[in-house]
Amino acid sequence: MQAVEIKKGIYWVGVIDWNLRNFHGYRTGRGSSYNAYLIIDEKITLIDTAKVGFKNELLSRISSVIDPAKIDYIICNHLEQDHSGCIPAVMEKCPNAQIYTCMPNGLKNIPKFYGDLNYKGVKAGDSLNIGSRTLRFIPVPMLHWPDSMFTYCPEEKILFSNDGFGQHFAATERFDNEVNFNTLMYEAKKYYANILMLYGHQAATALKAVSTLPIDIIATGHGIIWHKYVDKIIDNYKKWSSNDTEEKAIIVYDSMWHSTETMAKYIVEAFSQKKIPAQLYDLKINHISDIVTDILTAKYIAVGSPTLNNNMMPTVASFLCYLKGLSPKDKGRLSFAFGSYGWGGQSIAQAEDELKACGFTIWIDKIRIKNIPSNEELKQLKNTVLEKLS
Ligand code: FEO
Repeated sequence: MQAVEIKKGIYWVGVIDWNLRNFHGYRTGRGSSYNAYLIIDEKITLIDTAKVGFKNELLSRISSVIDPAKIDYIICNHLEQDHSGCIPAVMEKCPNAQIYTCMPNGLKNIPKFYGDLNYKGVKAGDSLNIGSRTLRFIPVPMLHWPDSMFTYCPEEKILFSNDGFGQHFAATERFDNEVNFNTLMYEAKKYYANILMLYGHQAATALKAVSTLPIDIIATGHGIIWHKYVDKIIDNYKKWSSNDTEEKAIIVYDSMWHSTETMAKYIVEAFSQKKIPAQLYDLKINHISDIVTDILTAKYIAVGSPTLNNNMMPTVASFLCYLKGLSPKDKGRLSFAFGSYGWGGQSIAQAEDELKACGFTIWIDKIRIKNIPSNEELKQLKNTVLEKLS
C-alpha cells in the first residue's frame, strides 16, 4: 500500500478502517481512519501509529517510502490504542527507536500498555531537532486523555493534532478540499460532540496554545487533513468549546402507545409557532450519537418517557446516561421532562433528575399526563411551552 506525500518529505502512512461502525457507543456510519505521518529527515520520525490489528497496512505504507528499520523516533501524541496500538509492531522493526510521550501521564502509563521500551517524556516547551526540522510539543490534556498532546513543526507550519479537529470519516481522499465540505464539517461536529464536548475548557485552552502559531496544515489523527479550511475548523472549535447555543430545540422521546409521542409533537408545534427550529427524535429509530451532535448547539432540550416497570424506558435511560457523560456542566441549556403514564408515572421525575445531573436548567417543571392525552391537556401542554417562550 502506498503512502501519500502531504508536503515534501512528509507522508501520510495511516490506515483506513472502512468498516468501523461503533466507537465506544458512538455510531461511526462513515468508518474512520487512524492517521500516522512519516517525516523523512536526518532522523526518520513517525508521528503516531494505528489501531492494533492494522499493523500490516501501516507497515506497508511506511515501507513504500522507507525501510521501517530506519525509523529513529516515534512520537506518541496520545496513548489511546487507536493511535498507539501498533507501537509494538513498529518497534519490532526498529527496536532502537526512541518513543516520545507526554509527561507526566503518557510516560507514567505507557509501560503498562507496551512494556519496557525506549520511552522519553516531553513537556510543554520541549522541542526535538530532527535535522532540517524541529518538532515542538504542546500538551493538550483531556483532548482526549490526560496524556494527549499536539506536535507542531514550525518549518512546515504543520500541526499534528491527533484527536483534536478529527473526524470519523473513512475516505480515499486525504485533504479537505477533496471531499464534500458539509459532510466533512458535520463529521467534525459529530466527533467533537461525542468525544470532546465534556472537555470544552480544555479545548479552549488548546486553541489558545496554538492561536499564535502559523498553521498551514492540521494533520489530524482521524479522517481528513485540514488545509484549505484550517480557519473554518478552528472557528468552529472556538464556537463549540465556548458552549454557545442557538435558538433551536431538540425533543427526544420514546413511547409505548403513542401518548408520549403525541405530547412530543405538540411541544414541537409550540417551538415551531415561535419560529424556533425544532427537531424530533424517536429513540427507537435514532441513534444517541446523532442526537448529541444536534444537542451540541441547541438551547432547548425536552426529553419524554412513559413509565415502564417503575422506570424510564431503557432507551431514554441509556440516552440520558450518554448525554450526562458528555455534558459540559457550566452553561445550562434549558430543559424539561415530559411523558404519559398509566399508574406510577415515576419516569418523568427520573428524567428530570437526569437532566439536572446533565447540568441543564430545568426550564419547565416536569409535565405528566395520565393515560391518553385529551385535546384539552395537549392544548395546555403547548400553551405552557408557548408562555415560557413569550
Ligand atoms: Fe482517537 Fe482518544 O483516540
